[in-house]
Amino acid sequence: MSPLWPCVLVSATGILAAAIPHPGGSVLYNLTTQLLQQYHKEVRPVHNWAEATTVYLDLLVHTVLDVDVQNQKLKTIVWYHEVWNDEFLSWNSSKFDEIKAISLPLSAIWAPDIIINEFVDIERSPDLPYVYINSSGTIKNSKPIQVVSACSLQTYAFPFDVQNCSFTFNSILHTVEDIDLGLLRHREDVKHDKMAFFNDSEWEILAVSSMYNVLHIATGDFAQIQFNVVIRRCPLAYVVSLLIPSIFLMLVDLGSFYLPPNCRARIVFKTNVLVGYTVFRVNMSDEVPRSAGSISLIGIFFTVCMALLVLSLSKSIMLIRFLLSERSSGQKQPLRCLQGCVDEDGSRIDPGAQRAGVTAFPIYQDHWVQSGTLKEIWFQLRSINNHLQTQEQVDQQKVAWLALLYRFDQLLFRSYLAILGLYTITLCCLWAQWSGW
Ligand SMILES: *[C@@H]1O[C@H](CO)[C@@H](O)[C@H](O)[C@H]1NC(C)=O
Ligand SMILES: *[C@@H]1O[C@H](CO)[C@@H](O)[C@H](O)[C@H]1NC(C)=O
Ligand SMILES: *[C@@H]1O[C@H](CO)[C@@H](O)[C@H](O)[C@H]1NC(C)=O
Ligand SMILES: *[C@@H]1O[C@H](CO)[C@@H](O)[C@H](O)[C@H]1NC(C)=O
Ligand SMILES: *[C@@H]1O[C@H](CO)[C@@H](O)[C@H](O)[C@H]1NC(C)=O
Repeated sequence: MSPLWPCVLVSATGILAAAIPHPGGSVLYNLTTQLLQQYHKEVRPVHNWAEATTVYLDLLVHTVLDVDVQNQKLKTIVWYHEVWNDEFLSWNSSKFDEIKAISLPLSAIWAPDIIINEFVDIERSPDLPYVYINSSGTIKNSKPIQVVSACSLQTYAFPFDVQNCSFTFNSILHTVEDIDLGLLRHREDVKHDKMAFFNDSEWEILAVSSMYNVLHIATGDFAQIQFNVVIRRCPLAYVVSLLIPSIFLMLVDLGSFYLPPNCRARIVFKTNVLVGYTVFRVNMSDEVPRSAGSISLIGIFFTVCMALLVLSLSKSIMLIRFLLSERSSGQKQPLRCLQGCVDEDGSRIDPGAQRAGVTAFPIYQDHWVQSGTLKEIWFQLRSINNHLQTQEQVDQQKVAWLALLYRFDQLLFRSYLAILGLYTITLCCLWAQWSGW
């Protein structure tokens, strides 16, 4: 079998070679080979070496994939365009059948070494092998790039935050004398172009400002172009899932002030609200971005909400405590007094009665018994009277105390309301300021 294989292969390639027409005769082939025959991709394509090659850049932000606050990384997909002139790759189109533009493999020609300064991860982009070139030697290269770039991300104003991230393009090696940079489009056009931006993400693009400057460092002067991409988060999802439940719980807690202050169910109710809030916080902790360096306003919002709930609960506990202590002191006193009265009278009566029972004659005994009973009844009546009077006093005290309690509760409610209002206004102002409305 094995000696036969080469023969089969040879015959097969022979058939194939015969079937496919050779491109040798075509104009395109002639043009391409003519262009690349004398070409050396190692040489920067200028006739006069003192002249810089100007590379014109353009950037279109297509999608924001991920904003990683914890690691201060931004993942985006951008369309990157670069255009430069190659003086060795031009032709007279009337000599080549009016061919105005052709594509050439990128690997066969000189290309600038421009990178994004901020990139922190391997840029993933489809490997596009061709560039477009027109008859005056202008080369256009464009490709989508998935950029993971470092960006100083702020969480203060989350979920109303606006992030400003920059993409700085420069040649990694060539100084401004060799490679200069320029903007392909007008700055204003770059700034307000949102056409390419994919709208269905969490982020909305506000502006892309661009800036050209020359960086002076020890190894030379480098041209660079910086694009500042300003994006804003669409806060609706977070408002619905984080802020509104929080506000509802606070309102429910406010509503619990309508329960009478001496009602112990109020404490149970408020405790339940607090527990509910804690569970809510634990559930939602993944939604809130955390960065080590800065505090987010929403974190403070949650903490202050919790503090307010605790405050309102402790107010209620304090009220009940006052009520109980006053009740016990108000009730024990008349009881003690009553006991004291009974004991005093009893100790005074009993010895007399005992004495009478022991020493008096039976005739007198009856009289003594009678008079003793009357006295006892009188004392009993007096003590009942006393008791009723003190009870009335206690009741009056209690009513007065309850009125005071209600007023105190109202005061606490108003102060709580004031604190809550002040807090809401402050928060709204801060959010508005930081989100740049
Ligand atoms: C291409 O060039 C070859 C010689 O190099 C020539 O014979 C041929 O006619 C040319 N083809 C066209 C279409 O000009
Ligand atoms: C291009 O070629 C045509 C004829 O082949 C000639 O007339 C014309 O001058 C050439 N143009 C340039 C810019 O060389
Ligand atoms: C080649 O492209 C550049 C830039 O788009 C343009 O200025 C130039 O006129 C084009 N050349 C021809 C022959 O179309
Ligand atoms: C974004 O940041 C750059 C500097 O890093 C600054 O020049 C630019 O004005 C900022 N843009 C906005 C809208 O804040
Ligand atoms: C995104 O929205 C803007 C206007 O808000 C619109 O001009 C643009 O065409 C939209 N882009 C896409 C890709 O839908």
